[in-house]
Amino acid sequence: MNQAAATVRIQKLIARAGLASRREAERWIEQGRVTLNGKRVSLGDQANPHHDQVEIDGRPLSKEQNKCYLMLNKPLGYVTTAHDPQGRATVFDLVAQVPERLFSIGRLDLNTGGLLLLTNDGALANSLLHPRYGIPKTYRVKISGELGPVARQSLEQGVSLEDGITAPAQVSRIRESSRNTWFDLTITEGRNRQVRRMCEAVGCSVSMLKRVRFGTLELKALPVGRFRHLSAAEVESLRRL
Ligand code: URA
Repeated sequence: MNQAAATVRIQKLIARAGLASRREAERWIEQGRVTLNGKRVSLGDQANPHHDQVEIDGRPLSKEQNKCYLMLNKPLGYVTTAHDPQGRATVFDLVAQVPERLFSIGRLDLNTGGLLLLTNDGALANSLLHPRYGIPKTYRVKISGELGPVARQSLEQGVSLEDGITAPAQVSRIRESSRNTWFDLTITEGRNRQVRRMCEAVGCSVSMLKRVRFGTLELKALPVGRFRHLSAAEVESLRRL
């Protein structure tokens, strides 16, 4: 997102900081108590929440941290933690040039690749991970052999795992060769190693696992190991979820 260009009405900024309602903030502006970069403001003036200094009665409103939203195509062999005691490569090494302090929205296992979202927006991350919202996540799965009708039906209806029966999932067959089958599995939960455990429980041996979709977002042609910033519309579509 282009944060340099994003300005907001000053009463909204004051309200966003939790200091007053918008109405009350408008009164403060009318009373001449609010300044923008040292100059008294009028109703309707706008400010950039990241760069401008707004003060009320001479006391600064703290600047908002730049919000950053990235989609990374996680390579296999990278851990999704900030520090690995074993010194393995982490997904944060791949976004080292981004100045914001980021965390991942959920995790992918060491040997799972694909779509991983990174952000510094804790509120959005918490909502997207909250079980109540059941955000759909789609994984491309490669198994040895076939996905038989019984296994498929179990995946779709719910599989009994040691931490309980899984919620209904969607299976969509992608292709088959003489040795392997590829299918997409969409789940709405986020349990540890869930896809691998579901597949094992129905007798399938997973030889490749990659996340291709998270909520409204698709990995598409983002190269392995590369990241991109989400557009404002993409962030908004996640919020609406
Ligand atoms: N399910 C898994 O088994 N592994 C992942 O990394 C994500 C989902």
